[in-house]
Amino acid sequence: MAIIAPSILAANFLNLGAEINMCNQSNAAWIHLDVMDGCFVPNISFGLPIVEHIRPITTKLLDVHLMIVQPEKYIDAFATAGADIITIHYEASTHLHRSIAHIKSLGKKAGVALNPHTPITVLNDVLTMLDLVCLMSVNPGFGGQTFIDRTYKKIATLKDEILMQKASTLIQIDGGANLNNAKKLFNCGANVLVAGNAVFKNQNPLSVINQMLNAAH
Ligand code: DX5
Ligand code: ZN
Repeated sequence: MAIIAPSILAANFLNLGAEINMCNQSNAAWIHLDVMDGCFVPNISFGLPIVEHIRPITTKLLDVHLMIVQPEKYIDAFATAGADIITIHYEASTHLHRSIAHIKSLGKKAGVALNPHTPITVLNDVLTMLDLVCLMSVNPGFGGQTFIDRTYKKIATLKDEILMQKASTLIQIDGGANLNNAKKLFNCGANVLVAGNAVFKNQNPLSVINQMLNAAH
């Protein structure tokens, strides 16, 4: 399964309704929402009100990526705001197993994101609980950064572990995904590509989304 998740971090916030409408008309199955607190990452983006406002204007899956400290404090609030997928960072969560179980108990899909320096082995004991592992292919905090090449190897390693454990976990790549690397990422075993700048800064975002999806074949 191949999925493109446009990240609205790169969208025009003065025209957010139109940007979501573009996503609605596109073949992107998810919309990626980057929540940043200025503490876990050196940037502040947006929070609950944006999720609440987007929820009624789309049926796409809302994929909420929490780049915040103590994410467990906000799981209920983002679930209520309309998130379908809640992804928390391994590096920000002391009791990761409990937090994943909590997300699942709310009927939401649970994801865990790993920073570029974090090996995938840290997730071995929770992998079967996870709907999604988000491999950060840039250091989180900003859109438009350069893809870190080491990620290809991490995808392959994670894919092997998922197959070995017979888990149904999806592999998501977040940061620097574009038309040039989409094919290689899907070939390595990625299922979901987050795309911020590649989609929203292009004159023809619908076509970029289609081309990235086609790279999976
Ligand atoms: C980085 C964010 C990414 C970012 C991706 O902290 O998690 O989702 O928006 O943006 P691009 O595709 O522009 O690298
Ligand atoms: Zn993200």
